[in-house]
Amino acid sequence: MLALPPEAPAPAAPPARGAAGLVVRDVTFGYAPGRPIVRGVSLAVAPGEQVALVGRTGSGKTSLVGLVAGLYPAWSGAVTVDGRDPRSLTDEWRRRALGVVPQQVQLFTGTVRENLTLGDPAVGEAAIARAAALAGAADLIAALPRGYDTPLQGAGRGAGVQLSAGQRQLLALARALVWDPAVLLLDEATVALDGASDAAFRAALRADAGGRRRAVLTVAHRLATARAADRVIVLDAGRIVEEGPPDELIRRGGRFAALVELESAGWDWRED
Ligand SMILES: Nc1ncnc2c1ncn2[C@@H]1O[C@H](COP(=O)(O)OP(=O)(O)OP(=O)(O)O)[C@@H](O)[C@H]1O
Ligand SMILES: [Mg+2]
Repeated sequence: MLALPPEAPAPAAPPARGAAGLVVRDVTFGYAPGRPIVRGVSLAVAPGEQVALVGRTGSGKTSLVGLVAGLYPAWSGAVTVDGRDPRSLTDEWRRRALGVVPQQVQLFTGTVRENLTLGDPAVGEAAIARAAALAGAADLIAALPRGYDTPLQGAGRGAGVQLSAGQRQLLALARALVWDPAVLLLDEATVALDGASDAAFRAALRADAGGRRRAVLTVAHRLATARAADRVIVLDAGRIVEEGPPDELIRRGGRFAALVELESAGWDWRED
């Protein structure tokens, strides 16, 4: 057996905080002056709530996720993650506050363990195993030649095991959960999984003790994912055009209902 690294010590108490979960208040943002991509968006995801963000290609979903992750400053308005400005957080606090699974999964050349912990030796075995189980990645890791010590082929290629797109997504989900974050952002994080694995992951998130207080914002490609959320937000050209519990939106017969109808007729509603 390997010597187990000690569990990470609890960090000192954070500075005073406001509302928990995720709050976006009247945010406008763009990449080029005069060309806003996110326009006056306000939304909140409470602890324990799962909210799905849907909208056509280019409607600004990934840009909104990037703002929440603190990648960019908003032109106006405010974002708080677990009560704090994501741009003010230290890396250590950001990991505990926020887990992000991006649309483009990045694994690097290194072992499975290093990919899950981002090379932080203070992360304990129990945290790694819990995150892998929650993500549904435990069986996949166990089946690799050297389990958590299996070298992976990163973006720069090199030696190591090459994983499928779905397997890479499972590891990215596990990586985001290692620090048991208060807020989880999933940007089409399960598109490469089959529908059953996607549904199993959602159910595991809900059943998880941490998940009961975790705020989850999911950019959903599959409308089945959106229909399983507590609330759906429809984004169009950077604005929220509809919002509510999925069943209510379907009864109302508005935008979301139209998308569901298009999808069931076999159209890719995300494109034209
Ligand atoms: N880094 C960037 N620099 C400049 N423009 C960008 C950048 N990222 C996105 N955009 C532009 O912002 C707009 C919204 O893109 P975004 O990626 O947020 O859409 P999306 O809703 O996530 O689309 P998709 O469903 O295809 O993932 C698009 O017009 C895109 O070209
Ligand atoms: Mg996107």
